Amino acid sequence: DSDNSTPQLARTQGVLWVSSNDGRIKGYDWKVNDDASFQSWLSSQGWTESDVTVVKSDDERNEFFFPGFIDTHIHAPQYPNEGLFGSKGLLDWLNEYTFPMEASFGSKSDPENEDTDPKDTPHEALRVYDEVVVKTLSHGTTTASYFATIHVPATNALAALCHKHGQRAFIGRVCMDNKEQCPSYYVDSSADEGFNATKRTIDYIHTLDPNGTLINPIVTPRFAPSCSNHSLTGLGDLAASYSPPLRIQTHISENNDEVALVQQLFPDSTSYANVYDTHGLLTNRTILAHGVHLTKDEMTLIRERGSKVAHCPASNSALGSGLAPVRFMLDQGVTVGLGTDVAGGYSPSILEVARQASLVSRVVQYSSEYQALTGNTTFDGSEKLLVDEVLYLATRGGAAVVDMPDDIGGFDKGMIWDAQLIELGTANNSTTSPLDVATLAGRAVETGPVGNVDIFGNETWQEQVQKWMWDGDDRNVKNVWVQGKLVHTRA
Ligand code: GUN
Ligand code: FE
Repeated sequence: DSDNSTPQLARTQGVLWVSSNDGRIKGYDWKVNDDASFQSWLSSQGWTESDVTVVKSDDERNEFFFPGFIDTHIHAPQYPNEGLFGSKGLLDWLNEYTFPMEASFGSKSDPENEDTDPKDTPHEALRVYDEVVVKTLSHGTTTASYFATIHVPATNALAALCHKHGQRAFIGRVCMDNKEQCPSYYVDSSADEGFNATKRTIDYIHTLDPNGTLINPIVTPRFAPSCSNHSLTGLGDLAASYSPPLRIQTHISENNDEVALVQQLFPDSTSYANVYDTHGLLTNRTILAHGVHLTKDEMTLIRERGSKVAHCPASNSALGSGLAPVRFMLDQGVTVGLGTDVAGGYSPSILEVARQASLVSRVVQYSSEYQALTGNTTFDGSEKLLVDEVLYLATRGGAAVVDMPDDIGGFDKGMIWDAQLIELGTANNSTTSPLDVATLAGRAVETGPVGNVDIFGNETWQEQVQKWMWDGDDRNVKNVWVQGKLVHTRA
């Protein structure tokens, strides 16, 4: 449901009709399930069969449609590092694991020559990018906002692979030109070379998908420490020079050492958010990842600028960055979505991130930082994010974060059919006694639950969804559609 204050899950089950030409939801009627009624419904709408694609879910298998997940923050080249963290926190982890991995995405040729051909990407890098797209689709991610690397051919390859596999994506060539802060083997040779490289990627994507139906560029300064003042200002100007202005993504206030470093590198600024604001990077199309340690004033500034926050709890816990105060941000009027932050996050699954968001919201009250921020030391439990709310953040919230609130993230008539068919399965209703040893070995698999979700048959719809949020995974994702097109079927 689109009412921000009280998320409601409506059971979307039965039959939907999706327009075959533009992939938008043309109508639905989940009470009608037989062909004769369908035909009369069609003619009552003035449509013929070729106008629509029919999608159905199977009530018997406890199947339901759910809006596709929106991953508002993911680093595609870091996928091979999933699950590798060390113990030293963000800045050391970047140097030890992240930068060497990203550097390996460079082609034999200099990243800053005129090369834009995806084919000049190392084979291993192409394999990684292909796997990320296939894997995230299989977990129900229909839209992803990707950080690539500084390399133009590889970044263009990621765009081409998303296009090929049919995933909606924002593709960012990472900008990092601060020689003091970036490793010598992985840095733009100058801010201007960075702008040129970024423009070549933007042009490539605009040629690949001229209407931006699926793939769009996003301006991506890595984070304030890795960019010069000239680069930050220029990237803000670059985004603003397009009509409509390009989206922007970066990191903010993820880790305490990082926040201190920004203060030291930008002594004239009043806050981390102020650094981005003074460089024209806080726009209503800006995605700020993390925001773990934002002050109340920074949240106000972010809300006033209309910028959005990508909450990445799996990453924040794995890297020990902290507990993001999501309820407080929402109360301040900040728009929030979810991000895996692979490979700061250990999982490509937004469902996993949703449950991590729920867990963090249940313990955040015990942090002194949260108590100082809110001015409270006792809490009534309202800081907890309910199942419906984290699933809202994973869909409608993410849609707002990527500035597509009217198009994706829900099933309103006229919205784009970006969706997943979830199958929970059934109770194992075999009539043979479990004490019959002979039947135990060959336990029937045609009936019974799917994956880790245990259905006993007496659950309400709300309880089924709760079980899915806590125990579900890619085994429950039977089909995935983007723009009305089937892009994944469970093996
Ligand atoms: N801050 C700057 N770069 C990165 C990155 O690659 N991952 C995370 N989690 N934080 C960052
Ligand atoms: Fe990140």
